Amino acid sequence: MVKGILLIAAGTVVAASLPSWLPRLVITARNRVLAAAGSEEDVTIPGPRIGADRLREVYAHPHAHGRGPGSKLSDLIWYLIHPVGHVHQEHMSSGPFHSELAGCTRGILAGSGLDVEDLARRCARRVLDGTDPASLRSVRLRDMAMEMTAEFFHELVFRTPCPPGARKLITANADDALGATKFTRLRHLDRRAALTAYLLERIRAGAISCALPTSLDDEHRALYLHGNVFGTGVAQLAEGLSHLLLALAHHLEIQQRMADEPADVAFYDRAINESLRMYPLFGISQRITTGPIDIGGETLPTGSVLVFDYEAYQRSGFEDPDRFDPDRWLTLSPKDATFIPFGVAGNRPCPARGLSTVFMRAVTAEVLPRFVLYSSAGHTRSMPNRAPCVLMPRTPALPRPTAALRLMRIRDDWENVIRSLTQFVLGCVIVADARSQKLCQRHHENPASDTRHPQPKRKTGTQHA
Ligand code: HEM
Repeated sequence: MVKGILLIAAGTVVAASLPSWLPRLVITARNRVLAAAGSEEDVTIPGPRIGADRLREVYAHPHAHGRGPGSKLSDLIWYLIHPVGHVHQEHMSSGPFHSELAGCTRGILAGSGLDVEDLARRCARRVLDGTDPASLRSVRLRDMAMEMTAEFFHELVFRTPCPPGARKLITANADDALGATKFTRLRHLDRRAALTAYLLERIRAGAISCALPTSLDDEHRALYLHGNVFGTGVAQLAEGLSHLLLALAHHLEIQQRMADEPADVAFYDRAINESLRMYPLFGISQRITTGPIDIGGETLPTGSVLVFDYEAYQRSGFEDPDRFDPDRWLTLSPKDATFIPFGVAGNRPCPARGLSTVFMRAVTAEVLPRFVLYSSAGHTRSMPNRAPCVLMPRTPALPRPTAALRLMRIRDDWENVIRSLTQFVLGCVIVADARSQKLCQRHHENPASDTRHPQPKRKTGTQHA
């Protein structure tokens, strides 16, 4: 009897303490799985061989520009973004085909004739106005942000407000890609195919307002738009915005200051920089060297896989790096700091840098005067919890929702336990499947016979690098 009681008590203690130790243990195991997606010879920077002080120099080196085959990580990336790897500008080596796609992306992002800030505000209002206030109280910021970015990119590309059905297709696709990338779910290729079909139908109907790659047929133009704009664009910008809003939900004084002074662009920009510093969207980025790189007395041979660790880099060189402090940027210049949220100027940085910060500023200035944001959920770079948050009307001032926040904390802790186990299992499945499919490697070995990524029917003689 006593033994039974002791056993139950011990079981209860272990179960109750699960949230404090199990997720950490599983994350360590999951990182091992991720490491298996790469190779032991990969050179991580900053790391034991090359420190943070040389990162920019290596990143911008003319021989650090290779992408695609030659790295196991490329197979995983192509698997995660399937079926758009072969028309995604970010994942191909430089050359005429990349230049053509990059030119189109720049054209779309320039939004010719559109006031991007005004568009961002309108899209934010559409989502905030169109949501039932009762259900708005408790939200996942990433889901809300994704509705806004779906609206935004739809109007940027089609010049018409996003119909509800299209919004669903776009958010389902971006959510699916992010879920697979974070190992919280397996891929749903049917969701991806539904978005491509919608884009193809719009292209054929002549509804696109921007120039698309002339060397591609319509099917591949739809895939190009899918990957570069409605995949990467919608997902990245939604994550960037939700990191900022979640950080503000945890820092009420900073939030209040921004709500009181929505026209203080400089302070908004400092808060955006600080959010991008602490929560860079890229955990890592990789390059394959196309020639030897001599650095700090050692030579990285041709074909080396360089893995740039954004999070480690952006935490190095800052005093108290875990403190969210926008005002640290009063005396620090982003270009002199260990800070590269949009990549490195000499090596194909993000073409959406300008647009992204305008969007984040405009939407935040739209959200904060309406709502006070509260959260007690965890905030990590990969944000697998999709940023739980309580939104309360800013006026009239209501009391802090203490009970809701307690409940959120408990739910987040337990979701974390279940999710970390899920991520471990799905991570093993995804990495193993990606390794066996070798999508990137196979495509480059024999593009003509690749039935999963058929060669674009080219109208010109440009070569897919
Ligand atoms: C806060 C938002 C964003 C952040 C922090 C971000 C970050 C980055 C970074 C770090 C890179 C360089 C990666 C590397 O060196 O390997 C990159 C590249 C890229 N980004 Fe973004 N991004 C954001 C939003 C967007 C959006 C909204 C779009 C598209 C609509 C976009 C499209 C791209 C593309 C196409 C590239 C590849 C450029 C090339 O290789 O030619 N990004 N982004």
